[in-house]
Amino acid sequence: MRIAVVGAGYVGLASALAWSHLGHDVRVLERDARRVGALRRHDDPLGEPLVPELLDASDLLVTSDASEAFARADMVAVAVGTPQTHGGRADLSALDAACATIAQAARPGTVVVRSTVPVGTADRLQRDVLHRSAVVSNPEFLREGRAIADMLRPDRVLAGGEGGQRDLIEALYAPILGQSFTPVAELRPDLTPRALVWTDRRSAELAKYAANAFLATKLSFVNELANVAATTGSDIRAVIEVLRLDPRIGEAFLRPGLGWGGSCFPKDTRALEALAMDRGYDFNILRAVIEQNRRQLDRFVALIEGELGARRDVRIALLGLAFKSGTADCRESPAVALAQRLVERGWSVRAYDPAVRERPCELPAAVALCDDIRDAALGADAIVIATEWEAFARDLTALREVTRDDLLFDGRCLVDPGDAAAAGFRYFGICPATRH
Ligand code: UGA
Repeated sequence: MRIAVVGAGYVGLASALAWSHLGHDVRVLERDARRVGALRRHDDPLGEPLVPELLDASDLLVTSDASEAFARADMVAVAVGTPQTHGGRADLSALDAACATIAQAARPGTVVVRSTVPVGTADRLQRDVLHRSAVVSNPEFLREGRAIADMLRPDRVLAGGEGGQRDLIEALYAPILGQSFTPVAELRPDLTPRALVWTDRRSAELAKYAANAFLATKLSFVNELANVAATTGSDIRAVIEVLRLDPRIGEAFLRPGLGWGGSCFPKDTRALEALAMDRGYDFNILRAVIEQNRRQLDRFVALIEGELGARRDVRIALLGLAFKSGTADCRESPAVALAQRLVERGWSVRAYDPAVRERPCELPAAVALCDDIRDAALGADAIVIATEWEAFARDLTALREVTRDDLLFDGRCLVDPGDAAAAGFRYFGICPATRH
């Protein structure tokens, strides 16, 4: 199949590389000349596992010229950003502009919407802009740090459109649905074939928001539960273990923390809430989930203040800046928000994150960005874990040897309190040790 992908961002590039790997002829339209140059040199702009391997192996054509990108394409996939506007609604200006270009420069065919968009968007594009083509909604479920693995070994493939388009989508994803793709480095096909959930465009669009909103709800629930457990003297780790072993609940997304962040959950939960509100429905639970997430940091900051509040000249080693482990992405990161709160107290903060090499623009200027964990921890009064990088829990004794005081605040339930005590730390956190 000949495919053009509009947008070489996260979703566009991961989709393009995976489809190219499946044997499709893929061209990418990208307006950022620097990104075009980088991709032509096979430089990975995402920092994603397996992207370098796929870039080296593929014959992807990346261009800023729409007619070159669209030449002979049977299918055009749109994967441009839909950031949130002030009121929480999705900003569709990039999507509308991309579809206008497609209407103008591509021959009629199938247009696949990969971007996350409010319900009704694909129907509107079909009716008003792309009436000579068939529009299919094909939302992605790609986690940062696992985008290629999630493309090639998804939990399911979701698409919505008119019945006649189903065969084309099945052909597009055939080696993924059948798990018969050629391995990429250590990533091999699974034994279980994947399901295509084929539906209408509006259901596909809502299902994408529903998946992210449900996961965010699960997380806000466990975060709330951890807060309650701390007041009842219950061991939240044991409580979670009980939940985890119930297949009806599911074992994933049960680790309490400083709140969910990143470029997707905050944006998509607010967009779904606004979408419901625009139709006169108050999505009560979702509103509470968003509000809980906004407050989650408060308790942790209060915990730190409770131990350090009266002290002056406090030095904090902040471990982690990314919104989760496995990525350098600091967008809407609770760790960065925490850094802000800590410097507001007048404390000195030295931060380290194994993936963050460039200073995130939201990071307060007063925070020093360190090159290694030892540098951040040297002379610190408290270690504060803000991102769940496993490496932070690995050598606590070495960490304790360089800190001035023995406080360890774990915002990600990463460290075993027993290990912390054995290394000489006093442990505080979202999942505190119980004394029974
Ligand atoms: C998320 C979804 O997982 C993808 O399926 C979706 O395609 C993507 O958004 C998107 O809409 O594009 P991602 O933003 O990469 O992917 O983040 P996740 O791995 O889902 O983590 C979300 C947040 O939950 C992070 O802040 C993470 O730290 C937090 N989290 C996750 C926890 O606090 N505890 C957990 O147990 C799991």
